[in-house]
Amino acid sequence: MRTYKDEIAELLAPLTGLSHQELVQAITLPQHLGHGDFAFPCFPLAKKLRKAPPAIAAELAGQIPLNASIVKVEPLNGYLNFFIDPADFARRTLGAIAEQGAAYGASSRGQGKTVVLDYSSPNMGKELAFHHLRGTMIGNSLGKLYMRAGYKVVRINHLGDWGTSYGKLIVMFLREGLQESDLAAMTIERLNALYTAFSNAAKDDPSLEDQAREAFQRLEAGDARYLGLWQAFKDITLMELRRIYGFLDVEFDSYVGEAYFLSHMTRTMDLLAYKGMVTPSQGAEIVDLTAHNLPPVMLRKTDGATLYITRDIAAAIHRKQEYAFDKCLYVVDNGQSLHFQQLIKVLELAGFDWYKEVEHVPFGLVLIKSEEGGWEKGKTRSGQASLLKDVIEGAREKILGIIKEKNPDAVNKEGLALQIGVGALVFSELKNRRLNDIRFEWDKALSFEGDSGPYVQNAHVRLCSILRKSAEKAGRAGADRPAKDGTEGIDFSKLPEPQAQALIRSLSLLPDKVGTALEANDPCPMAQYALEIAEGAHSFIHSCRVLGSAEEKERLFLIDCARIVLGRTLDMIGVPPIEEM
Ligand code: ARG
Repeated sequence: MRTYKDEIAELLAPLTGLSHQELVQAITLPQHLGHGDFAFPCFPLAKKLRKAPPAIAAELAGQIPLNASIVKVEPLNGYLNFFIDPADFARRTLGAIAEQGAAYGASSRGQGKTVVLDYSSPNMGKELAFHHLRGTMIGNSLGKLYMRAGYKVVRINHLGDWGTSYGKLIVMFLREGLQESDLAAMTIERLNALYTAFSNAAKDDPSLEDQAREAFQRLEAGDARYLGLWQAFKDITLMELRRIYGFLDVEFDSYVGEAYFLSHMTRTMDLLAYKGMVTPSQGAEIVDLTAHNLPPVMLRKTDGATLYITRDIAAAIHRKQEYAFDKCLYVVDNGQSLHFQQLIKVLELAGFDWYKEVEHVPFGLVLIKSEEGGWEKGKTRSGQASLLKDVIEGAREKILGIIKEKNPDAVNKEGLALQIGVGALVFSELKNRRLNDIRFEWDKALSFEGDSGPYVQNAHVRLCSILRKSAEKAGRAGADRPAKDGTEGIDFSKLPEPQAQALIRSLSLLPDKVGTALEANDPCPMAQYALEIAEGAHSFIHSCRVLGSAEEKERLFLIDCARIVLGRTLDMIGVPPIEEM
């Protein structure tokens, strides 16, 4: 669809000699309201035209023909500011939203391209900890954003299902006298307990570590009994993982984890050896990266065991072959930056020119207040990582208390409490820039005021409730959805209030925001955008009575468009767009 940016670019192209694409990319929004609706910065033209930007802006201003949409053009400080007729702006923006509905904000920039996203990817045998939430939800959101931009997205959970840890579990399982017949009653909690028991026991008896290494060697060598136990542990973990992902509404296309790449090890080592990259070092095999200012990569230990990075090298090659990706993103905390620098360097040295398409998308820590008042990395008093399921349950319970008090008649209180609790946790993490460390505070996260999940969900609820009331008033069942009937009969000059105009302007920005979030590989701009719409909606509803007003039809139309855009935005960040609370 032809946008205002297209239209302005068409006017500017013959005057500036810049291409349509260059112009569309250069056109921005003015810094201040009142400075127009779009701005074209003349600075890049200064060199070419050998003139100062303010002079260029003034000259261009005199040459732009005005029309029914573009009603004023003004030069200001080297910018050329464009003013759009407010009714025209409302008609086009709201018309596009009504026409495209849930597809509004979608684009085809990724058409024909594939992006592989690796996120969540926890280690097996352990429960998801609270700190897993951030990466899981950043990945989930990026997946939705890339899909919206037309990419084919492959969402991979690269389970940490191989390594000495599984030796530890097996050793402890057998040491406690457990057998295959006990597996049916085995739970994730009991697996976790085996881990803890191992760590405690190994403090007194260091030989356990050797036993664990041996057990893992037997596993790598394909010992049938050990593999059977390993598979059972894996199945138990997967079941629990899927349960938690269900709460979060997070999905994956593949659960191919590290163990899968065992059969690729020889091939991968041969390839690296063929490229002359493998150096023996005290019985182990490494890739020396000294020339690239990176520590060496250990591919194989003295005992022949392969490592996390060896499997990641194999996995990257496999992904390229399997999916022919245009981008392969690893959403993993910034503690693993070195690992990914090494991985990408090895791919480059191995001659894969697609190493440039591989990218680590790091994120900062989530800190929780300790009992002593300090900020710690998701640890509770006992030093254990707090479990994600407990945090979700805690949030659900607190919200349930509030609902029972404020809205005792609400149907499905339990389900609602879960959706609000999850929304609160997710929003509190994604509203921050990806790379920032964040300080998680229960009260702020669960508050119905301020920049919180419940606040943005509440705005969506209010929009839905006005539409519902209007439908009831008209004797129709269910929520009324005025926008789906199109713009016929709507007088767009009836939305002149500053609150209406500000809201419409916000709604026009969804396509740009998706672009910004994708360029930064960060859902944060979307979360901030949800706040912007929520605030705009609250302030419009507060200052302009909808039902029973002379502009009821137009205002309902705007409300419905705001509902569509806010709903899509919340969905894209993984905050449930609930309709009642
Ligand atoms: N399992 C790893 C961990 O818990 C994260 C894996 C990230 N993905 C990857 N392909 N390395 O630290």
